[in-house]
Amino acid sequence: MAIRKIVEIGDDKLRKQCKPVEKFDMRLRVLLKDMADTMYKANGVGLAAPQVGILRRVVVVDVGDGLIEMVNPEIIHTEGEQTGAEGCLSVPGRSGVVTRPNIVTVRYQDRDGVEYEATAEEFLARAFCHEIDHLDGTLYVDKMDREIFPGDEEYDTGDEEDEEE
Ligand code: NI
Repeated sequence: MAIRKIVEIGDDKLRKQCKPVEKFDMRLRVLLKDMADTMYKANGVGLAAPQVGILRRVVVVDVGDGLIEMVNPEIIHTEGEQTGAEGCLSVPGRSGVVTRPNIVTVRYQDRDGVEYEATAEEFLARAFCHEIDHLDGTLYVDKMDREIFPGDEEYDTGDEEDEEE
């Protein structure tokens, strides 16, 4: 188990376009394992490779239903809209209200390069969008409707949507 250092807002690495993964090798396996360990240690629900300083198109997500590893993920379809609270492990101590599609279909590869499609809704769809944004150098703060402050209705409601990605 290796916990990697999480890169925080202000670091250039969070603003780069990540490159596709071409080699499905041991190095990718180690990265995926370290990213999951780092996400769980930080009580996050998602983590993208640039958040640990690696500029490759790799994300991990677990909103409570098990770990999902996505290599070279691409959103191929969206439907509807949802507006809700969002945070990010790279933007510690802050959260904001972000509008996202309510349903998304993602095409991705697993650690062996096998291609899959997954359709998610609500919180999982939000997590997919948030993490895939990271691969293009986009943070939730770039698209939030407004910041949430202590004392606001949405602040610290204790539900899963307070968790950071
Ligand atoms: Ni994030």
